Amino acid sequence: MFHVMKHGHYISRFGSKLGLKCIGMHENGIIFNNNPALWKEIRPFFTKALSGPGLVRMIAICVDSTRDHLDRLEDVTTELGYIDALNLMRCIMLDTSNRLFLGIPLDENAIVLKIQNYFDAWQALLLKPDIFFKISWLYKKYEKSVIRSCKFLPIRRPFKKDLKEAIEILIEQKRQKLSTVEKLEDHMDFASQLIFAQSRGELTGENVNQCVLEMLIAAPDTLSVTLFFMLALIAEHPQVEEAMVKEIQAVTGDRDVQSEDMPKLKVVENFIHESMRYQPVVDLVMRRALRDDVIDGYPVKKGTNIILNIGRMHKLEFFPKPNEFTLENFEKNVPHRYFQPFGFGPRGCVGKFIAMVMMKAILVSLLRRCSVQTLKGKGLHHIPKNNDLSLHPNEQQPLIEMAFVPRRKVAKNQEAK
Ligand code: HEM
Repeated sequence: MFHVMKHGHYISRFGSKLGLKCIGMHENGIIFNNNPALWKEIRPFFTKALSGPGLVRMIAICVDSTRDHLDRLEDVTTELGYIDALNLMRCIMLDTSNRLFLGIPLDENAIVLKIQNYFDAWQALLLKPDIFFKISWLYKKYEKSVIRSCKFLPIRRPFKKDLKEAIEILIEQKRQKLSTVEKLEDHMDFASQLIFAQSRGELTGENVNQCVLEMLIAAPDTLSVTLFFMLALIAEHPQVEEAMVKEIQAVTGDRDVQSEDMPKLKVVENFIHESMRYQPVVDLVMRRALRDDVIDGYPVKKGTNIILNIGRMHKLEFFPKPNEFTLENFEKNVPHRYFQPFGFGPRGCVGKFIAMVMMKAILVSLLRRCSVQTLKGKGLHHIPKNNDLSLHPNEQQPLIEMAFVPRRKVAKNQEAK
């Protein structure tokens, strides 16, 4: 596993060319750009935006966005006092990503829905055989984006002209904005860098649009579900919640979390690692061999598609209690070679550092204000899940709602007992 992740001749992924073309990912963007030369031109734009000053700015953005969304919680709370916690996390992820990478006002709920439809389409088309695209009346209709619903594909609405068009409109607004601002250096974010690269002839407009789209969907597709699972685990393990709240109080006191607090939040960090190990969102890594190789004596032919089961690796004897959720699994020195929730190497997750910072900032901001309860007190294993491109809750089922109880109320209830 380490060999494949580490070496430069495994820097491609795989998937149906026609399927990827259909959703705009074929040789565009980064996530499923399987042309190594084109991918190499794109990756530095992402690396730059997701590290250095951007990463530090993201902490304050996460604090503000979490506060704004918690302030408006009443608007999304049902009569019984519950909220769709996953959707709330998706809205926070989209908002934080937009604030850092694009900076154009958008309709959060509408775009979140379009992202879900895009993700459904991506999952449905990624591994379809070519025959599907050649003979299927379904696909032809679908390509023209005229179908409203389809019983074979889990697509709720036509997606092609949906998310992509919405992003194109936002990028056009960004271009307009850039052409009128006085101090350009104050607006040099990820989207601006790409727009200027296009004007220098280094990128096509289509590629710029796809890169922005992928940057805006990356966190809502992964981090929101990860945080949702974490909230369910917190509700189920009050002693872990208590340990984290105690640490947060000791490190931040009465102020918001800041960049220099990040390395001090050890319990929170162990909790994040253990949650990602125990209940991963991404448990598979996909790579293609770009040349012949031999791994541990086994020949690997050029063009071989490889799926690395990181989820399985995280449940092996490298951890003291691999099948239990317990912070003990990360209390002693963990063999980090065997814990790779973000993949690893040149094609590893480019967002892994910012993702850690975002999870810490959002969890700390949330736990300072609220305690979380699941519907009917049901634990994580009661929440039905789907496992396709990623592991995520089945949203057709109940049990994904949660109650966010303000901390002052929790303290009062405890006093009364
Ligand atoms: C808990 C959150 C996240 C998890 C578990 C996760 C996990 C992963 C994994 C396993 C990969 C494939 C790595 C490989 O092939 O070795 C990946 C790729 C990627 N991730 Fe993440 N990720 C997360 C958050 C993010 C965030 C917040 C961003 C950006 C805002 C991001 C952007 C990307 C991109 C662009 C790629 C493709 C990189 C490439 O192909 O060069 N991820 N992620």
